[in-house]
Amino acid sequence: MKILSAAVCAAIIAMTAPAWAAEDRELVKMPAMMQEHMLTSMRDHLDVLNEILADIAAEKFTDAARVAESRLGTSSFGQHNAAHMAQFMPKGMQEAGTALHRAASRFALAAEETDLDRSYKSVARLTGALSEMTAACSACHAGYRIR
Ligand code: HEC
Repeated sequence: MKILSAAVCAAIIAMTAPAWAAEDRELVKMPAMMQEHMLTSMRDHLDVLNEILADIAAEKFTDAARVAESRLGTSSFGQHNAAHMAQFMPKGMQEAGTALHRAASRFALAAEETDLDRSYKSVARLTGALSEMTAACSACHAGYRIR
């Protein structure tokens, strides 16, 4: 048992070590207030994902659609102060943000469809749309940091 857990630890260290070893994310400088704003909105992003997953599990697909569109979709632009934030962001970072908002709007449409067609295929499509959203989170995180 002990040997097994040591092996598991070694595997985890081996998997994560490269991430510690090299810091290759681009540092994006912005005023402290904007940093705060960005991190607050990030924590909200994670809450939204959590809510979406719970809605899917409860088969509340229209709720998932509503929360995705209103808090992450293209209609949430004003709320995130996107235009103002964008002036501090390099182009690639802006694009990752846009990719996230578009993916969220596509997810919202897919969730509306899943509400009407509750087949396995439809849920699989919905999961694919969700992973396009999380891919945008990961892509930006892999490329940029603000501190
Ligand atoms: C446009 C770029 C971008 C996108 C898209 C993005 N993030 Fe972030 N996120 C960042 C940056 C930059 C940080 C700060 C990293 C650092 O400097 O430590 C961050 C930090 C965070 C944090 C930590 C907040 C804190 O208080 O420390 C969470 C949680 C987070 N993001 C969740 C998400 C989720 C979930 C998504 C997708 C739904 C997402 N982010 C999409 C850029 C992005």
